[in-house]
Amino acid sequence: MTPTFVQCLALFAGLVSAKPFQQQQAILALSQDAQVRDIHIGDINFIHTTDTHGWLGSHLSQANYDADWGDFVAFVEIFREKVSQLSKDVIVIDTGDKRDGNGLSDATWPPGLRSSEIFNMMDYDLLTLGNHELYTAESTILEYRGTSQSTKFKDKYVCSNVEFIEDDGKRVPFGNKYIKFETPVMKQRVLALSFLFSFQRANNRAIVTPPLQELMEKKWFQSMIEANKEEDVDLIIVFGHLPATDPTEREMQNIHSLIRKYYPNTIIQYFGGHTHIRDFVWLDSKSTCLQSGRFAETVGFLSINMTNTVEPDSPVFTRRYVDFNKKSFKYHLRKLGNDSDVPTSTKKGKTISRLVKDLRNELSLNQKLGYIPKTYYVSARPLDSEENLYHLITQKILPNLVPSKNYEPSMSRFMLINTGSVRYDLYKGPFTKDTEYIVMPFNNDWHFITVPLVVASKVESYLNKGPVIASLGTPSSYHKKHHFGAFQKCPFVKDPNLSEGYTTEDDFGCHGDDTPHSSQKEYDIPNVVQCKDLKNSREEEMDPLKMVHVIFYTFMELDILNAVNSIINDLSLHMKNLTTNDCSHYGGDSTKKLLRDYFAQF
Ligand SMILES: *[C@@H]1O[C@H](CO)[C@@H](O)[C@H](O)[C@H]1NC(C)=O
Ligand SMILES: *[C@@H]1O[C@H](CO)[C@@H](O)[C@H](O)[C@H]1NC(C)=O
Ligand SMILES: *[C@@H]1O[C@H](CO)[C@@H](O)[C@H](O)[C@H]1NC(C)=O
Ligand SMILES: *[C@@H]1O[C@H](CO)[C@@H](O)[C@H](O)[C@H]1NC(C)=O
Ligand SMILES: [Zn+2]
Ligand SMILES: [Zn+2]
Repeated sequence: MTPTFVQCLALFAGLVSAKPFQQQQAILALSQDAQVRDIHIGDINFIHTTDTHGWLGSHLSQANYDADWGDFVAFVEIFREKVSQLSKDVIVIDTGDKRDGNGLSDATWPPGLRSSEIFNMMDYDLLTLGNHELYTAESTILEYRGTSQSTKFKDKYVCSNVEFIEDDGKRVPFGNKYIKFETPVMKQRVLALSFLFSFQRANNRAIVTPPLQELMEKKWFQSMIEANKEEDVDLIIVFGHLPATDPTEREMQNIHSLIRKYYPNTIIQYFGGHTHIRDFVWLDSKSTCLQSGRFAETVGFLSINMTNTVEPDSPVFTRRYVDFNKKSFKYHLRKLGNDSDVPTSTKKGKTISRLVKDLRNELSLNQKLGYIPKTYYVSARPLDSEENLYHLITQKILPNLVPSKNYEPSMSRFMLINTGSVRYDLYKGPFTKDTEYIVMPFNNDWHFITVPLVVASKVESYLNKGPVIASLGTPSSYHKKHHFGAFQKCPFVKDPNLSEGYTTEDDFGCHGDDTPHSSQKEYDIPNVVQCKDLKNSREEEMDPLKMVHVIFYTFMELDILNAVNSIINDLSLHMKNLTTNDCSHYGGDSTKKLLRDYFAQF
């Protein structure tokens, strides 16, 4: 999260006033120097995934995330068994966005056709959808029929504010509005609700009602409250596809304020997602929210002791972000078994690992298209760094764009792409078909306009001052300045002995990650980046009225025209405003193809 200064002060005040919170800090401090930080088993223990986006086959080029879905399923199987031997409960939750990000989901139509079968082999106790289940009708139908209504998950799928539209136009709840259950071991009475943020772009087979509106206007919520008095409920779980920290919309906070009115003393545990970060928020002395990253990089762990010995009415919360790798899984299982010989694989886990491997082969995701000699980062390096992916694209890739019809090759040109068209870092190692799905899945057509240099040179900065240029299916555009923003309180770890990775700062402090990492900075990403290809001259020596080409993705056309016309207007140039009639096809290869060709030479 990025606390503002005011929030920091409020947070600090919270630290001083809340006793259980201080105890919490003491417990966690004990293990902060260990190689791997322990998880702390409580009465109710949660395992949380979110925004997996098809990453079921591990991160083949990142040793730190080397566990696949089979390893994870085995981890949870053994974890459940060990924790139940301690007479405590385990609840496993996912909060949506299961496609758009990896070849395993995206190389089929609809995306997720095969990967969701594998994903669903995890015995989730609670699950729901994210916005990426709602972009196309096909994805939505697949999610509804294949998961929400499946025999396995019919009683576990919760979706309080989304409806599905049947073939005959009938509106039906996408899943249960809420469910009530008792935990198997401790017999805690649980109410579970789930919300998707106020998503505006659902396809015509789904309707999303803003969470607060749903709660205030629909009858089911009032009926739920009447049927479940505070004294009949031990724990409320609100899990969903919305961020833990969202200073603008505050949807989670608004939901909390409303539910708190009806359940002033109940423990309420939230799980969030969508912004792809590790985050933990302390809402009040009986309520917290965990958000568990993205792309199968993180297994979120949270435990609640329903009471504590010092103050019986105060629950104790702990949280841990477990790196999605075999070493971490093994470490935590061994600890649970008191370092004795605990198994770390299961028959089911091995079967799933094999299924993932088979699917990868079947979809030819391992097909080698080239080699990546060193790693390029989206936001962990500054834009002008040789290790920045946009730097590579603007300096080495885009200059290779050759227009198909030989449009005046002597003309200077500005080539612009929206940064959201790149989804992930490009890691050293083989450049495979899967790499394309992960890093740059979309093809593009190029359009161009011809304008004076003085106008062209101002387009990039104009667009970077404006609102985000949205493009469908680009999970990486949610990067937030959560790591080491202006008001960071956690030290920046610089230790060559540790691998680079997450060093999360949240409401419980700086030691939430199970694996200490050398910190990565998170740099701001602009909306667009450009390649300036000036022919035979330096910009400052050129005639500002010399005509040049501005070349861009077709889907950015309206943004570009608006920028150009505003600049023309601001400069009071004697020029007519440009319209789509002034835009022409440029031809040439897509950036995706140019990127592939570049790495094919290594
Ligand atoms: C939770 O309670 C158990 C006893 O039931 C205790 O051993 C453990 O330390 C407590 N955990 C926390 C985080 O307070
Ligand atoms: C864990 O191991 C230690 C040292 O081997 C032993 O003293 C202790 O009794 C064990 N605890 C449990 C719960 O098995
Ligand atoms: C890295 O490890 C070496 C060898 O164990 C040690 O001497 C050194 O102090 C460590 N560096 C840091 C920054 O901790
Ligand atoms: C040209 O476009 C700009 C920016 O969209 C707008 O403010 C201006 O009114 C337009 N001028 C004319 C003559 O349409
Ligand atoms: Zn997502
Ligand atoms: Zn999302």
